[in-house]
Amino acid sequence: MKKSGDKRGEHYVIRGGIPLVGEVEIGGAKNAALAIVAAAIMTDETVTIDNMPDVRDTNVMLEAMQGIGVVIDRVDRHTVKINGSMVKNVNIDTDNIRKIRASYYLMGALLGKYRNAEVPLPGGCDIGSRPIDQHVKGFRALGAEVSIEGGIVKASAKRLQGAHIYMDVVTVGATINIMMAASLAEGRTIIENAAKEPHVVDVANFLNSMGANIKGAGTDVIRISGVEKLHACTYSVIPDQIEAGTFMFAAAVTQGDVLIKNVIPKHLESITAKLIEIGCEVQEFDDAVRVVASKRLRPTQIKTLPYPGYPTDMQPQAGVALALSEGVSTITESIFENRFRYVDELIKMGAAIRVEGNTAIIEGVKGFTGAHISAPDLRAGAALVIAALAAQGVTVIDNIYFIQRGYEDFDTKLRRLGAQIDEAADSKDIRKLQLRVVS
Ligand code: UD1
Repeated sequence: MKKSGDKRGEHYVIRGGIPLVGEVEIGGAKNAALAIVAAAIMTDETVTIDNMPDVRDTNVMLEAMQGIGVVIDRVDRHTVKINGSMVKNVNIDTDNIRKIRASYYLMGALLGKYRNAEVPLPGGCDIGSRPIDQHVKGFRALGAEVSIEGGIVKASAKRLQGAHIYMDVVTVGATINIMMAASLAEGRTIIENAAKEPHVVDVANFLNSMGANIKGAGTDVIRISGVEKLHACTYSVIPDQIEAGTFMFAAAVTQGDVLIKNVIPKHLESITAKLIEIGCEVQEFDDAVRVVASKRLRPTQIKTLPYPGYPTDMQPQAGVALALSEGVSTITESIFENRFRYVDELIKMGAAIRVEGNTAIIEGVKGFTGAHISAPDLRAGAALVIAALAAQGVTVIDNIYFIQRGYEDFDTKLRRLGAQIDEAADSKDIRKLQLRVVS
């Protein structure tokens, strides 16, 4: 397992124009894993978690948890044992924890278990304003006092008491956080207008495996009966819906034929529907999907929405595909306001896109050409890799650090599908690879 500080390379050098063909295996869901490892400290017994993705965000989270005394035993690359009986303090303020958004899950976990938590305000990708008012509202409803001082969220309670909580916006993070704290509160909690994302269900299943009593996850209303304590379990994280969707779009834009294995096709339905609309063939199997693209893609309209709507984390990848389609498309981003930062980079490759407010108007072009570009954030970065795979010539992408936050062995998996993609550490490396990939 890579240490979170390990930087193998800073750039990708990609020669595009090669259809991706073959099979790819999808790993565990990063966003589910981040919440599950936090929830694992809610028992003093040892919890075993399988199908953990080996990506920078989960590794940073595990290192940060070690920093407060959690015992982390990495059994192998994708299995970790977690023991939260030795937590020394509930005040987490390390550089590590400030780096990732999901650190906020330690609030719900620590507040539930110790009735006390001090966690810095979350970091993560700059994809827009990311308030935590709904988390705070939920904790307060459970009886906690919450304040924000010097960038630290402090929550404490003498007693946590179940409550009826209506979420003003559909939020994955707050739904999960409240679910965690309420699992160890006294009495019954009802969360209305809850998020329904697959990872909300996965975290509920995990907590239930530890002895919690949560019903209705995956619907608008989640009912939680608090229990006194949680216990050990062994749990396997669900497959990563966004990693799978990214490979589905990579197959589409390169006019490829890829079998994407170890997925739950139901979780991919909104992505599959859009790929079919733009002219791809998508076959569903029990735990795999195959995407075949054999003609120029067609335009369409997309609006990002909470699950089961089209995911915001798959918006940039779709933008790349529509930028190559035959006609005019629109994408409306309704979750985060800063998710079109890939557009300027794509324009350098020949795309014709105009952003007006939260809508991108995309005039499809016949092809992209390689350029020197930069990954602005995790999903936008992955989308730009896909664009480079479809482009004629060589593309250099800077700041691949962002991509490595959420994709395990992205370049290796793409190479196995026939892509020409390499990591470069510096400009000398880049020049060497540029020469190699064009020859
Ligand atoms: C999670 C995912 C992220 C994904 C997003 C939406 C993780 C670590 N990250 O982020 O990849 O893009 O879900 O699927 O799992 N909001 C509020 N108040 C709050 C909380 C959220 O107004 O207290 C708003 C946000 O500004 C946003 C919307 O609710 O407009 C959805 O955010 P949320 O679902 O909470 O996203 P995250 O949990 O941050």
